[in-house]
Amino acid sequence: MNRRRRIYEGKAKILYEGPEPGTLVQHFKDDATAFNNEKHDVIDGKGVLNNRISEFIFNKLNDIGIPTHFVKRLNMREQLIREVEIIPVEVIVRNIAAGTLSKRLGIDEGTALPRSIVEYCFKSDELGDPMVSEEHITAFGWASPQEIDEMTALALRINDFMSGLFLGIGIKLVDFKVEFGRLYENDLVRVVLADEISPDSCRLWDITTSEKLDKDRFRRDLGGLIEAYQEVARRLGILFENEERPEPSGPVLVKS
Ligand code: C5P
Repeated sequence: MNRRRRIYEGKAKILYEGPEPGTLVQHFKDDATAFNNEKHDVIDGKGVLNNRISEFIFNKLNDIGIPTHFVKRLNMREQLIREVEIIPVEVIVRNIAAGTLSKRLGIDEGTALPRSIVEYCFKSDELGDPMVSEEHITAFGWASPQEIDEMTALALRINDFMSGLFLGIGIKLVDFKVEFGRLYENDLVRVVLADEISPDSCRLWDITTSEKLDKDRFRRDLGGLIEAYQEVARRLGILFENEERPEPSGPVLVKS
């Protein structure tokens, strides 16, 4: 039985009280949602893959000096994180036109953008995470001008790093979303990367075939989501066959 105190439950993750003050356990569910919860499904094994992929990316980002909430992976579905106060602003970075940018501005999907474009959305399920400007963010007190500068600079560094990382394994980083939090340490407050980075929150296209290796497989009913996420994990060198799959359904060899 799970006796831990549940702090928060989101669409794809649950946060539990951590083992020490100032820590939380982030649990990755198999739930997939899109279009602000209008579309929902449970995809066996997605949480396990996102936990692994996000761990890998957060470790790499920690290594290059990007401050993050990530401490360590605990098991197949959970990671230990530092408790932060989530800033209610999603930061999106785009390299290639796709998704809502293509729809909004009538630019064909796949068009290379003249430069990386940063967008902000207000985190609100009721409102469907509307796009907002820096003016809204500061006027309504969601983040200070300094925090916006820090989030933007970090998001662009993350973009540079991840673009290279994925390019090296034959994948184009089309766009992604990140979230940040305030980490309170003694009298200091720092803006750190929070939440997750996974094929749920990035658009990843195979460099030669442009095959989608991300959540658009679910959003657009393309099928093969788990296979696509496994392919990303395999290319990153972190797929361990025995762990990624849910319980085997076929016959299992029993040694006598
Ligand atoms: O849908 P849109 O084109 O605005 O998404 C841009 C990027 O941000 C995509 O990689 C998408 O997966 C991600 N995103 C997200 N969570 C949201 C909105 C967008 O992870 N709530």
